Amino acid sequence: MSTALRNHRIRLASRPHGEPVEADFTRDVVEVPSPDPGQVLLRTRYLSLDPYVRGRMSAAKSYAAPMEVGDVIVGGTVSEVVESAADGFAPGDTVLSYGGWQEYSLESAAHLRRLDPSAVPVTTALGVLGMPGFTAYAGLLAIGKPQPGETVAVAAATGPVGSAVGQIAKLHGARAIGIAGGEQKVARMRELGFDAALDHRAPELAGRLAAASPDGIDVYFENVGGAVWDAVLPRLNEFARVPVCGLAALYNATSAPEGPDRSAQLMREVLSKSLTLRGFIQREFVPTMFEDFLRDMTDWVASGKVQHTEDITEGLDRAPEAFVGMLRGQNFGKAIIQVS
Ligand SMILES: NC(=O)c1ccc[n+]([C@@H]2O[C@H](COP(=O)([O-])OP(=O)(O)OC[C@H]3O[C@@H](n4cnc5c(N)ncnc54)[C@H](OP(=O)(O)O)[C@@H]3O)[C@@H](O)[C@H]2O)c1
Repeated sequence: MSTALRNHRIRLASRPHGEPVEADFTRDVVEVPSPDPGQVLLRTRYLSLDPYVRGRMSAAKSYAAPMEVGDVIVGGTVSEVVESAADGFAPGDTVLSYGGWQEYSLESAAHLRRLDPSAVPVTTALGVLGMPGFTAYAGLLAIGKPQPGETVAVAAATGPVGSAVGQIAKLHGARAIGIAGGEQKVARMRELGFDAALDHRAPELAGRLAAASPDGIDVYFENVGGAVWDAVLPRLNEFARVPVCGLAALYNATSAPEGPDRSAQLMREVLSKSLTLRGFIQREFVPTMFEDFLRDMTDWVASGKVQHTEDITEGLDRAPEAFVGMLRGQNFGKAIIQVS
């Protein structure tokens, strides 16, 4: 042990049943270890809160291995190098890492992306210029393929993925319909340039969506599932594309949705309208699209063509409540914890 530094951590105490509760998290303090050759010791500055982490808390098989009970909760971080045993990194450097819900972490230098704090605010590496922004870019352009004059719809439309989807759709000449929870988010969607902005918590979503999509919907970027998907499906045009990115409405579900099984009706729609439903995990597109994304998005953010909002909560200790709040839709923009 190299230093007198203490590492505050938040670990998984039990697998949540439904919405996570405080007792599903446990906190401890341990000594900070020294880096082995090739590693750096990092101090977490900002921690990203992302919906996929709810899936990793469950034992259910998914595209990534679940966390084990006792593990530090996973998460992307913007961190500062405290001690380096790796070529190319020195104390004071700022990096994008995957340090998780703790104040200090060890990481192999090969897994770090260097950030330039003088170029753009470093928190953008967790949102608009990071994984969520890339998810929007890759899913919309590689699968949704919006054409000028087409209509693109997206929910969770003030979050980091959805807000980027709507704005990129507009940059490609499409009409954008945003769906989000609450009046404040409706106002934000209008500021972002969405052509129509709908509150999914208000009554009659299906009727309001029909009125907002007189020519139907050509691309639905699926972030949430649930009642929004029910309203969108009848509005999809022939040959519509549906990049299936996330199902946030279902992440805390403990049972199948109520009512009859509607999979036969869905398959009829897929067949009769020649729909394309295509699930994806963003990492699939990293080798082919990440460089283009970083170039385009950096330019769009710098020129004001893409705006972004961050919802920063101070203190690692508040990560569990902020995480649960994000799954409920209480975040206003990219959910981030300022750790130090
Ligand atoms: N496939 C991939 O590689 C990949 C990568 C990153 C993210 N994702 C997915 O993309 C989606 C958006 O991620 P994000 O990071 O941008 O999160 P986010 O929008 O900041 O947070 C999730 C949002 O989901 C909305 N939501 C929750 N329950 C809902 C419900 N019942 N009905 C409608 N909306 C509901 C809430 O917004 P409202 O207040 O608007 O309801 C909440 O703010 C998530 O599903 C996430 O898992 C996928």
